[in-house]
Amino acid sequence: MLNWLGGFAVKFFLDTANLDELKKATAWGVVDGVTTNPTLIAREGRPIEEQIRLICEIVDGDISAEVVARDAAGMVKEGRELARIHKNVVVKCPLTRDGIRATSALSKEGIRVNVTLCFSPAQALLAAKAGAYIISPFVGRLDDVGAIGMDLVRDITVIYRNYDFKTQILAASLRSPIHVIEAALAGAHIATMPFKVLDMLFNHPLTDKGIEQFLSDWEKVFHESHAAG
Ligand code: E4P
Repeated sequence: MLNWLGGFAVKFFLDTANLDELKKATAWGVVDGVTTNPTLIAREGRPIEEQIRLICEIVDGDISAEVVARDAAGMVKEGRELARIHKNVVVKCPLTRDGIRATSALSKEGIRVNVTLCFSPAQALLAAKAGAYIISPFVGRLDDVGAIGMDLVRDITVIYRNYDFKTQILAASLRSPIHVIEAALAGAHIATMPFKVLDMLFNHPLTDKGIEQFLSDWEKVFHESHAAG
């Protein structure tokens, strides 16, 4: 999506595998893609191939589906199978030695990989060098252990810009609207968030108060004059 300056606008992904949430959010016209992980897929109870296919019918954008193998050969095999589900599927591999090896192999085959569970700039460098399509730094989980998670997004942005890496930075594990704003300020290409956080982005008490005021002023004149007429 190009912005008004001809650059790329921040993309909003939904971090869920729940079909009702995806339908509700896509109706707002602001969802560019979806991230899932084994926890989110397991929560819905369907086999991953089936769940990802259903998600692809709802959202027309990159849909991340994660491998569950721990060894590189197993990840490559699963990755190929996941990529066959739909052209929009992005294979998610964890940031382990085997995950980076699988990322490198899948990327060479033209399969797009989202490298997940990134907690350091050094790990992000490895992912970019392996040809990752997306790197996913986990902001909230770093905050949980007393670090400033968003610093990781800021550092990766600088490092990738220094070398013109094409890997997109996806700020993950976002827990609040402030996280989304800070990810955009840091220059992340994508912010993925649970439905609850996307819904919270709408809220402002002055918007509600303003609507009440506008409509009551309108009603006072037009409703009463209609009634009189
Ligand atoms: C991203 O791809 C992950 O699925 C997700 O953002 C993890 O978020 P959590 O730390 O809130 O579980």
